[in-house]
Amino acid sequence: MSEPESFDLAVRRAAQLLRRSQHAVALTGAGLSAESGIPTYRGTGGVWTRFGEPTIDGWDLFCQDPEAWWEHALEHRVGGSEFSEALDRAVPNPGHYAMAELEHMGRLAHVITQNIDNLQNVAGSRHITEIHGNRAKARCMRCGLRFPLNTIDTSILPPVCKECGGILKNDVVMFGEPIPQDVLDTCYRQTYRADLFLVVGTSAVVFPAAEFPIMAKRRGYPLIEINPEETSLSDIADVIVRAPAGEAVPALVELLLVP
Ligand code: APR
Repeated sequence: MSEPESFDLAVRRAAQLLRRSQHAVALTGAGLSAESGIPTYRGTGGVWTRFGEPTIDGWDLFCQDPEAWWEHALEHRVGGSEFSEALDRAVPNPGHYAMAELEHMGRLAHVITQNIDNLQNVAGSRHITEIHGNRAKARCMRCGLRFPLNTIDTSILPPVCKECGGILKNDVVMFGEPIPQDVLDTCYRQTYRADLFLVVGTSAVVFPAAEFPIMAKRRGYPLIEINPEETSLSDIADVIVRAPAGEAVPALVELLLVP
């Protein structure tokens, strides 16, 4: 694999590729929110590294007894209270705002985020698909409608959809849970339209998310990686910016602001 080039050269080449793109799509992961104080999942200090991955029977437990699942969910929180408190405290960092700026400048058509922290929405992105859901939302298991989590009535468990009476779950996709079809359809539609993938802050080990940039690359389109560490996509990246997203994405925006 080619050695990553200097920061300035890599950012310049990434900006050139984005200038030529008509429909750039981004895939983002926990690393983009790391500078907001939210631990990543893998690697040093990662939530899964420290607490272990959640059992994959979470989805089965929900299906078997949604009421018991809700009782447990309202009493406990995934990743330990430290992780949940970090999520509660987090605000967007310069990386999130720069990603939203790329959209506002017309340089980024869509963001597929694996993050559940809602920070890319708060930072101002509008063309965004949350493939693993959003911790601030509840989702109806029957009609798929999503509601702000803090608006649902949990005095009766399990809570039900006010539109169709279906059972509600939090929108976060659990291990073992199928990704909602509407979300998957949008991700594949955006991947087929993409003529460039900007991959920011993900280890790219979870599928189908990690597949999207590979699919675009196979069709001959460039892949830009922004990550301080090597990932499974580094070998096929056209440009590697070995830096934190909070530094790299704003530098990219600054270069693209220059006509
Ligand atoms: N800027 C950019 N990238 C960073 C930063 C930073 N400041 N800090 C860390 N990273 C990188 C790490 O090098 C790593 O490659 O972010 C990546 C985080 O990887 P993971 O912890 O595996 O997170 P992610 O890729 O988002 O995980 C995907 O796995 O368990 C599921 O649902 C979970 O959505 C998550 C999915």
